[in-house]
Amino acid sequence: MNIEKVDVRDIAQRFGTPVYVYSLSILRQAIAEIRPLSPVVRFAMKACSNTRILQEMLKSGIKIDAVSVPEIQRALKAGYPPEDICLSSDVFFNAEEAEFCLKNNIFCSCGSLGMLEEYGETRQRLGLGSDGVSIRINPGEGAGHSKKTNTGGPYSKHGIWYENLDEAKAIAKKYDLKIVGAHTHIGSGGDMAHLSRITGKLVDFAKQFPDLQIINFGGGLPYEYDPDKPQVDISDYQPILKERTQELEKHFGRPITCEIEPGRRFVAGCGYLIGEVRSLNHTFDEHKKRLDYVLTNVGFCHLLRPMAYGSYHPIWFAGDGLGKETDIIVAGPVCESGDVLTQKNEEPVPRRLPLPRRGSLIVIGGAGAYGHVMSSNYNSQPLIPEVLVDGGTMTLMRRRQTLDDVIREEEQ
Ligand code: LLP
Repeated sequence: MNIEKVDVRDIAQRFGTPVYVYSLSILRQAIAEIRPLSPVVRFAMKACSNTRILQEMLKSGIKIDAVSVPEIQRALKAGYPPEDICLSSDVFFNAEEAEFCLKNNIFCSCGSLGMLEEYGETRQRLGLGSDGVSIRINPGEGAGHSKKTNTGGPYSKHGIWYENLDEAKAIAKKYDLKIVGAHTHIGSGGDMAHLSRITGKLVDFAKQFPDLQIINFGGGLPYEYDPDKPQVDISDYQPILKERTQELEKHFGRPITCEIEPGRRFVAGCGYLIGEVRSLNHTFDEHKKRLDYVLTNVGFCHLLRPMAYGSYHPIWFAGDGLGKETDIIVAGPVCESGDVLTQKNEEPVPRRLPLPRRGSLIVIGGAGAYGHVMSSNYNSQPLIPEVLVDGGTMTLMRRRQTLDDVIREEEQ
């Protein structure tokens, strides 16, 4: 199996496994597909924050949606100017974060009444004058691939509840802030129907802010992980966004800037996680049916999504001597029975795949978004490398951690 022109066996041999691999050409195709959707497009860098990926976004005219000051600092280090970065969060992690944003002219979208208050207070304390700020609105409903990624509705902590906008206006007045941006993000992994409809709701809310300059419709562009199903068509989003913005321009009688901030759709498809089959095992269920387990060296410390949300990722095996197709449960090395790559609703689900053997490679697709960024040192596993493939060349863009890296911050 190849990623662009490189055989996955060559990648495994050169960098070891497990290893994250990104195809530059697939990334560029995704950028080319998303860039025309809106006059301003931000990359929700939480999905994949390696500097090399950020630099590719920068070169392509994509701005940044950051969720924390460390993300802002990574974007600045990658070469982004502060004016291209927006912080969109519901809290400042601490008082210094609020000061950092204000002192460095980072535009902020405040996703809670308390954050807006802290923004205003900090601005006053620093002796800065009137200022433009954005608010994130919870429109009362949302959509996501899991309850955990649906960010609208009464059970979401995100955004200023749509019925509390007068409170937001009062806070803004108290601190002499101008609400120049209205923003919403209804969730991650939802569908185009929800996204398109809720853009209309945001427009209605936004009309009550007389200083409005920017409308930000958030991220949440869907991505189909199953390569046997057609990819979700997102091209219809452009005319919808245009129409929504024009409605606001008509209402206010001046130009309004339209923004979106997808993460997953930019990077999911370009990322692969390559590991190795380490062992085979089997059990028998209560009907004496045999269950085949393939144990690999890829666990939820490397890719959390199947364990966290029951997410589907395509799996291929590569190498010599693959057996006939069998129903297989693919698992990892982490010492927890939830460490299963093929699962749904917290249950292992067998998948029909050619039976690999010890030493076969496993390639997991759709791993570019919320993959490496959500990995951990659980079981004292070092964080794994990231490699960029461009045609026939492979470049290391992050090295493998050593055990020394893992224990570096401990006091001896
Ligand atoms: N904007 C805001 C304010 C967000 O919170 C997010 C994602 C995005 C944009 C980008 O959403 P996207 O276009 O990627 O759907 N770890 C989960 C996803 C968490 C999403 C968090 N916020 C997963 O692996 O599915």
